[in-house]
Amino acid sequence: MSDFLKVVDIVKTFGGLRALDSVSLEVEPKKITILIGPNGSGKTTLINVISGFYKPDSGKIIYKGREISGMKPHEVYNIGIARTFQVPALFWKLTVLENMLVAERNNPGERFTKFLIKKLWRDREKEATERAFRILDVIGLSHLWDRLATSLSGGQMKLLEIGRALMSQAETILMDEPVSGVNPTLAHEIFTRLVALKNQLGITFFIVEHRLDIALNYVDNVIAMAYGKVISSGIPEVVMADPKLIEAYLGG
Ligand SMILES: Nc1ncnc2c1ncn2[C@@H]1O[C@H](COP(=O)(O)OP(=O)(O)OP(=O)(O)O)[C@@H](O)[C@H]1O
Ligand SMILES: [Mg+2]
Repeated sequence: MSDFLKVVDIVKTFGGLRALDSVSLEVEPKKITILIGPNGSGKTTLINVISGFYKPDSGKIIYKGREISGMKPHEVYNIGIARTFQVPALFWKLTVLENMLVAERNNPGERFTKFLIKKLWRDREKEATERAFRILDVIGLSHLWDRLATSLSGGQMKLLEIGRALMSQAETILMDEPVSGVNPTLAHEIFTRLVALKNQLGITFFIVEHRLDIALNYVDNVIAMAYGKVISSGIPEVVMADPKLIEAYLGG
């Protein structure tokens, strides 16, 4: 048991629908945990609640011993929880490198360019650019640094989203279907890079993913949801053998 990332009795309704029906779970630090479950079981909604995009009706989110439920998305981002989206959210008119630079935590935004003339900001930009290239190397995108985000393949867009999360110095990264629509070779590469990031930088991953054939080779823990509730959790071998899971997928 730890207070690293803890979801306690979260309820989220949309009209009459209980998308999250008293969800409680724990994400272990420096591990890869995947959240699985049939379509519409509440996975994306949970990611939206943890990242501050949705306000829960009731319940608590605890991060490192501190309650973060009710925080706004940028506040959650600033305490070190970054996220990626089911459909990649990038700045399409910017290059790969520019997408990385604007993801820097506490980036002064529009003022950034204006202040570039000043030495302080020049130094800052130099540092940020170097860091961006180090991360682009790790995720295998440095050769594409000057390409527009729109010109990337689907898998490369997913990698760039991961790069942006790392640029924000996030310790915890929430990901919604990082390998959906990605070819198997690149999907394995993405998960291999996530394992390396976990081992080398101690990053905690909480990942929604349907592609179990790929993901299960790389994850430490599995949490399964159905109809807005957690139905099973633990190490992959145990959860995958849980009859409740088979029942949920078969719609029993
Ligand atoms: N903004 C919203 N307004 C109304 N209903 C919503 C909203 N977001 C999600 N829902 C509903 O809540 C339920 C859970 O949706 P959610 O997107 O969390 O499922 P999911 O597990 O991510 O599914 P999938 O695997 O298909 O992505 C669904 O019935 C969905 O229609
Ligand atoms: Mg979803």
